[in-house]
Amino acid sequence: MQLDVVTLFPDWFDWFRSQRHVANAARQGHELRALNPRDHTPLSGGQVDDTPFGGGAGMVLRVDVMDAALRAFYNTDPVELRRERRVLALTPGGRMLDDAFVDELAQEPAITLLCGRYEGFDERIVQHYASDAVSIGRYVLSGGELAAMVVLDAVLRKLPGSLGHADSVLEESFSSALGGDPEYPHYTRPADFRGWSVPDVLLSGHHEEIRQWRRARSRERGAAGGGSSLA
Ligand code: ADE
Repeated sequence: MQLDVVTLFPDWFDWFRSQRHVANAARQGHELRALNPRDHTPLSGGQVDDTPFGGGAGMVLRVDVMDAALRAFYNTDPVELRRERRVLALTPGGRMLDDAFVDELAQEPAITLLCGRYEGFDERIVQHYASDAVSIGRYVLSGGELAAMVVLDAVLRKLPGSLGHADSVLEESFSSALGGDPEYPHYTRPADFRGWSVPDVLLSGHHEEIRQWRRARSRERGAAGGGSSLA
């Protein structure tokens, strides 16, 4: 899979690329590139953004700059690009990222993530170049980069070979194997700590009972909305 991020801060992705599961994915032939639109801006002084028409705070990423950048990266009219690959604009008001959306993206041969900065994008970037607007939550980050890393992390761990255990993504929270419910609780050694003991069934070696116990806990968590207060 080819994963491209269009960002004014490509260095941020050096750290991300060095993380083990990302490096594993790269070894499997998946490619992560961070592409800087500033390198191709037609404006003088490396300008990429401008003040919003109608007034207001902050700066907006210019559509002509994004056009020039996408043309340079892909050698095509960017209006055509979304027919060739999934082009995701990261924006707080977009389609909310969830496990089903991540599964959908993990099937793609190539995706491009467009990161806005400051007050975001000129809306024409989203309308004419993006196939989807994607949000990681209804709150505003200072740019799309952290949101892009969230999307990339969630997608990369679905790709075969990026995690140590092939099965670990099959039965994780919100997967179809768990009927969309959150994952069941996990325990490891010591079996007893400060009097807090691990449920007996998990130490029993009865695989079917363990499976049923886990399914029941997962359902309970789903019914509780996954956000019950613990203290
Ligand atoms: N850019 C700024 N905030 C964002 C969010 N919550 N999700 C996606 N992109 C963003």
